[in-house]
Amino acid sequence: MRIELAFTREAVADIDLRGAAVAVVDCLRATTTIAAALAAGAAAVVPAATEVEARKLAASGGALLAGERHCLPPEGFDLGNSPASFTPQRVAGRTVALWTTNGSKALAAATTSAASVVAFALVNAAAVARHLGRQRPSRLVIVCAGTEGRFSLEDTYAAGALIARLAAWSPPVCDEAASAALLAYQAAAHRPLELLQGTGAAARLRAKGLLDDVRYAARPDVLSSVPDWRDGRLVDAVTASAPAAAAAG
Ligand code: MLT
Repeated sequence: MRIELAFTREAVADIDLRGAAVAVVDCLRATTTIAAALAAGAAAVVPAATEVEARKLAASGGALLAGERHCLPPEGFDLGNSPASFTPQRVAGRTVALWTTNGSKALAAATTSAASVVAFALVNAAAVARHLGRQRPSRLVIVCAGTEGRFSLEDTYAAGALIARLAAWSPPVCDEAASAALLAYQAAAHRPLELLQGTGAAARLRAKGLLDDVRYAARPDVLSSVPDWRDGRLVDAVTASAPAAAAAG
């Protein structure tokens, strides 16, 4: 598998995604939240490129409205972007329309032409690596959401975690950006909380009293959900394929 990496969602514009498998990460917090929502039994998460689009989705399709502006839920939203608040009581069986500053826009950008798209974070890195390891795409493009056009260390670190786990399946061929992500991860593989807490995103969350979200996101491999892009929405590839697997077995 050849792995390429974009440090920001804006950089995706220069990459031809046709035929590629894409994995999108916004570790603090959007893709952590998406993994948490699906692990809690949400039927699907629909990432919205704009707030208006998210509000329309919720108004017309009965989806729960979730997301953030400056880290906090905009007025009228059912949920913010704190992963722990996506409990089975709140989201089981529901579709969630998610609008966030960077993550949902990165997903919207990635889903235009790629052959397949998954969302990942530290919390589900092993599950997503297993999924990709089984799919064996010849080319994987990892898209870090970044922060409004700038590099984000936590996304790069989580990307490195995914690459390290993929390497257990078969040694990947990495471009320089993917190699840098792997090196960043290896330098602090056993200190995820320390690494995440030192980032600018964590400082913004701390200022809003949301440090628990950083603690939540800094737990590698605790979730088994695999947010997989199907028909305009992210569904859990694990539970979505369970009935077929059960029938086949
Ligand atoms: C984003 O999409 O930029 C983040 O998830 C922002 C946040 O911390 O909610």
